[in-house]
Amino acid sequence: MALFPRSEIGAPIQGPAATLIYDDWYPALRTARLKRGKLATAMLLDIPLVLGRRADGRLFVLRDSCPHRGIPLRYGRFDGQRITCRYHGWEFEPCSGECALIPSLTSQDNLDAIHIHATAFPCEERDGYAWVFIPSPGSGKRSRSVERPLPELTKFGPRYRMAHLSASLPCNVDHGIIGLMDPAHGPFVHQAWWWRSRTSIREKTKRFEPIAEGFRMSAHAPSANSAPYKLLGVYGQPVETTIDFVLPNRRTEIIRCGDKWFSSLTTVTPVTSSTCRIDVVAAWNVFCHVPLVTAIVRFFGAKFVRQDQITMIQQAEGLRHNPGLMLIDDADRPAKWYFALKQARLNAASGAATIHPTKHPMDGPVELHWRS
Ligand code: FES
Ligand SMILES: [Fe+2]
Repeated sequence: MALFPRSEIGAPIQGPAATLIYDDWYPALRTARLKRGKLATAMLLDIPLVLGRRADGRLFVLRDSCPHRGIPLRYGRFDGQRITCRYHGWEFEPCSGECALIPSLTSQDNLDAIHIHATAFPCEERDGYAWVFIPSPGSGKRSRSVERPLPELTKFGPRYRMAHLSASLPCNVDHGIIGLMDPAHGPFVHQAWWWRSRTSIREKTKRFEPIAEGFRMSAHAPSANSAPYKLLGVYGQPVETTIDFVLPNRRTEIIRCGDKWFSSLTTVTPVTSSTCRIDVVAAWNVFCHVPLVTAIVRFFGAKFVRQDQITMIQQAEGLRHNPGLMLIDDADRPAKWYFALKQARLNAASGAATIHPTKHPMDGPVELHWRS
């Protein structure tokens, strides 16, 4: 769903840029889009990418730019083994990016093509996504991808259903993320007969605890004013949910009810420094006997994400004019933790943390109160 609105002057509406976190994994696209022998494109952190699957099934991700004169490699030919640039026919092995052939070279030349590379990125296939590790600019070949574990949706057994959702947001990744963790918008943005009504608003107390590079809403019985949670009552077992947020962009929610479970991983990925995309992958073993359960989850999930998307499109209209903004306690406290954790990561990346060591913004478990 890439439907950015246009302003009166025709330019796409988008707000101010955000600082980006490099040296981490981001989902580029659904691997279902990668057909053998075909190239696909994506944009991550302002970097244009070309992706594909070699004839042997292996994924590859290259910067969509020929190292010779910069023409996008996607205009070239891919035969399942090599990409041939459409301008001067240089051939590249797509997993390593190594140049395998420069057709214009003669026996008089002593340039060895093998020393020339298109920029290749570490990539892995997981939960239906092509995850790409984006190193910090200028870090050269020294990849730190092994230091950061690849994100994975938690599953509690081999039998489950799975669904994916995605929506483009015309705001920067920070607004996408704090919108994701914001408890106070629920009764206003997500009003629907099947979810909850505005009048169901009530005071809530939630316990949070610090975790590495993030925070956890400790295991609790889910809100009694949300219909989907009420449905789980049919199992006659206590329902418990745990929600984590971890840098750079991941929210995981796990709902357990006896041996039944629902698990989701939501990421907000910077496409450019001022736009982002929300991706949700969910797996579950609840209601698997219900006909069309996957279609039903997808239908309601898409409506839910669309409600957030419309709100953020409207918000982006306002953000274009750089208004002053505020974060209030306690409903916006998770957003404050996010900004502090992000700053700590950026300081560590720049080396500043060795001079001013940063600590977790939470001293320990804390209870937050709000009405939603
Ligand atoms: S621009 Fe690609 S081979 Fe020259
Ligand atoms: Fe929302």
